[in-house]
Amino acid sequence: MDLGMTSNTVKLCYDHGELELPLIVGSEDEKAIDISKLRSATGHITIDPGYVNTGSCQSAVTFLDGEAGVLRYRGYPIEQLAEHSSFLEVSYLLLHGRLPSEKEFDRYVYEIKHHTMIHEDLKRLYQALPKDSHPMAVCSAVVGTLGAFYKELVDPRDVAQVDGAALRLVAKMPTIAAYSYKYSLGQPFMYPVDSLDYPANFLHMMFATPCEEYAVDPLMAKVLDLLLILHADHEQNCSTSTVRMVGSSMANLFASVSAGINALWGSLHGGANQAVVEMLDALAKGADTPEEFMNKVKDKKNNVRLMGFGHRVYKNFDPRSRVLKKVCGEVLSRAEGSCRLFEIAQGLEEVALKDEYFVSRKLYPNVDFYSGILYRALGIPTNMYTALFAMGRMPGWIAHWKEMHVDPAFKIGRPRQVYVGEKKRDYVSISLR
Ligand code: CMC
Repeated sequence: MDLGMTSNTVKLCYDHGELELPLIVGSEDEKAIDISKLRSATGHITIDPGYVNTGSCQSAVTFLDGEAGVLRYRGYPIEQLAEHSSFLEVSYLLLHGRLPSEKEFDRYVYEIKHHTMIHEDLKRLYQALPKDSHPMAVCSAVVGTLGAFYKELVDPRDVAQVDGAALRLVAKMPTIAAYSYKYSLGQPFMYPVDSLDYPANFLHMMFATPCEEYAVDPLMAKVLDLLLILHADHEQNCSTSTVRMVGSSMANLFASVSAGINALWGSLHGGANQAVVEMLDALAKGADTPEEFMNKVKDKKNNVRLMGFGHRVYKNFDPRSRVLKKVCGEVLSRAEGSCRLFEIAQGLEEVALKDEYFVSRKLYPNVDFYSGILYRALGIPTNMYTALFAMGRMPGWIAHWKEMHVDPAFKIGRPRQVYVGEKKRDYVSISLR
């Protein structure tokens, strides 16, 4: 097989002939070969484990340049959004494709605030689960169950229903996540408070009790808002691709997002934020010296990874980790335990950035390397970190799900395979085997 490129097509030469394949060029000059007619024209399929070279769609939500360390939501650089925007404004931007006017934003905030409670009957679902359940198991169960409580919002092709479901998911996710924590403690669920903004309301539901006044620390609410902004979207990552894949069968938005929460849970994806802090905690307790630990990481037979390092797309700094590292430096003087973890993390980063193993593989800190240290500073328990990632990623998941449903190229997601199993053989009855 041979590939030759002209300005807007690519010529594929294969054993039985030639095929002109269209070239697609994105708005940032990314190039893709459109192989949608490949099998019907040639009888061949492509194989691409882990989809390393495969674009699943054309998308206008997020631009990511892994070589340059660039991330933009709807064209806006993540650094500008982190500095000037809020999570709810970013959420509006992702869902609607543009920044809201003041009036539109006020309306959006009002709507979110008026959908933060969960149905009283839904609280009984928590009681059915063990108290020590992982919050991601709880969140995925509760989010999936929303489809049973909002039967009038489950038609994927009814725009009003989808918008109603989207609003409820963004509004209720903090409540759902905070209740998973309260349930684990055996404390009463705290109702959302409309006078608080989105991040402060979450912290209140997490840490207030009915017995005493609880004042949210505005700095901590601001840090949480920033974390949510930085996690709000990341184009076709594992959980977003899962949300799209599940939605492509015409499953409703609640079911699709619930599947995305499960995909996010894994330690190679969102679960890395919990794994990073567990790794740093172990080092803080002296399980290994940093040198011993790095040697273990580099020796493949140990199967140990430096969690929070490396990325499928970034072959340079993850811009989110740069922002987070700076914020760690600014806020951690107030949080003793986190300071020690920050020191260890910076030490590991310094070693890794000079070490041939990491340099040659282009492994840099990703978003999860410093985020957990900040969650620790906010007083969030370690097993809740990935649930906070899910809270942040919610608008991104929904934006992609919606985009997929209006894409003229919409199709159910259904990859093919190359079968390498047994050839046809005849059944032998059990007594003769
Ligand atoms: N520590 C040690 N070695 C690593 C690491 C790491 N964190 N990441 C990659 N490598 C090595 C890997 O062993 C392989 O080496 P070799 O070429 O000798 O076989 C090489 O680097 C390429 O790695 P890969 O696993 O083929 O790369 P990938 O693109 O398939 O995986 C990744 C990307 C993020 C899963 C991986 O870098 C990783 O496991 N990182 C640690 C987990 C983590 O931090 N995940 C969060 C990702 S960012 C946020 C998110 O997606 O939620």
